[in-house]
Amino acid sequence: MPSLQEQIQEYQLEINSFKPENAADLENFRIRFLGTKGIVKSLSAEMKNVPADQRKEAGQQLNAFKQLAEGKYSEFADLHADAAGKGPAIDISLPAAPLPLGTRHPLRIVENQIISIFEKIGFTVASGPEIEDDWHNFNSLNMPADHPARDMQDTFYVSQNPDWVLRTHTSSTQARILETQPLPVRVICPGRVYRNETISARAHCFFHQCEGLYVDKDVSFADLKQTLYYFVTELFGEGTKVRFRPSYFPFTEPSAEMDISCTVCGGSGCSLCKHTGWVEILGCGMVHPNMLRNFNIDPEVYTGFAFGLGVERITQIKFAVNDLRLYSQNDVRFLRQFQSL
Ligand code: DAH
Repeated sequence: MPSLQEQIQEYQLEINSFKPENAADLENFRIRFLGTKGIVKSLSAEMKNVPADQRKEAGQQLNAFKQLAEGKYSEFADLHADAAGKGPAIDISLPAAPLPLGTRHPLRIVENQIISIFEKIGFTVASGPEIEDDWHNFNSLNMPADHPARDMQDTFYVSQNPDWVLRTHTSSTQARILETQPLPVRVICPGRVYRNETISARAHCFFHQCEGLYVDKDVSFADLKQTLYYFVTELFGEGTKVRFRPSYFPFTEPSAEMDISCTVCGGSGCSLCKHTGWVEILGCGMVHPNMLRNFNIDPEVYTGFAFGLGVERITQIKFAVNDLRLYSQNDVRFLRQFQSL
C-alpha cells in the first residue's frame, strides 16, 4: 500500500491537471476531494498510521494538499454562478402573478354610497346596538306593549332577558340619538336588523336598514321630500321618478312610504316591481310628538323628520339581484361580480 506521501503526490498531479468543463465537473471534483467522504477526509484518517516522528511533516503535507484542492475549486467557482444564470429563464420584466383580491360586499358598496350621499348634505353617521331593549326598539317609539304595530315586526327575543330583543329596525338608534345628543341632530344610522321570518327569495331573518333623522326648529315635510328627492337622484340618477303613498308608522305622523320608478324595467313592469313599475324603498314621516316628548323635547318648539330605508331592496334595484339569499350565501361567483366597484 502506497504511503500517505505517495498518495498525496499522486493526487496532487491529478488536481494540478484538473480543468473542469462545466459546473457538473466542478461538483464532481468537490465531492471527490473535499466531500465528507472525499479524499482529503480519508487521507486525514490515515494520519494515525504514520510513524510518530514523521507525523509533523505528513500533517503539513496534508494541509498543503487540502489547500491545493480548495484553491482549485474556488478558482473555477464562477462555473456555478454561470450555471445558475443558464437555468430556467426568469423574465423579470413580466408582471407578477396576480394575487386574488377580495371584493366589497354589494350591500356594503350600497351602504357606503348612501352614507356619502347624506354626508354631503351635513348628516353624520351613528350606530347602535343590535341587541336592544324594549324601550329603544318599541316603547319610546310610541309602540307600547299592547300596540298592534308590534305584530308587524316578528321579533326575536333574547332568552336571557325578557326585556331584550334583536332590534327589528334601525329606528331604535333614532331613540338613542334623541336620548343622548343635543339638538339639532341630523344623522343616518346604517345597520343590521333581525326579524323572525322564513327565509326565502323575498324575505330573510336578518337584513340591513339605514335610518335617517333630522330634528330642529322648523323642519317640515317639504324638507323631508326635498332631502329624499336629492337622495334618489344621487343614487339612481336624474329622471328616476318618486312617489309618496300615505302610510302608518307609530313613531311618525303623518307617515308615508316612498316608491321609485323601477330602474330594472324602466317602469314598464318586471318581476322585481311585481309588474307595477314602482318599487318601495323606504318608510318616512314627521317624528311623532309623543316620541319627542319621550325624550323631553318640546314638540311645540322642535319638529323633525325620519326615514328608514331598506339596503337590500336598494341593492336589489341597483344591481338587479333577484334573490335575497344571495347576499348571505358567500358564493364567490356572486360576490366577484362586484369586483370593480
Ligand atoms: N322602522 C320602519 C320599518 O322597519 C321604517 C321606518 C318608517 C323608519 C318610518 C322611519 C320612519 O324612521 O319614519 O319598517
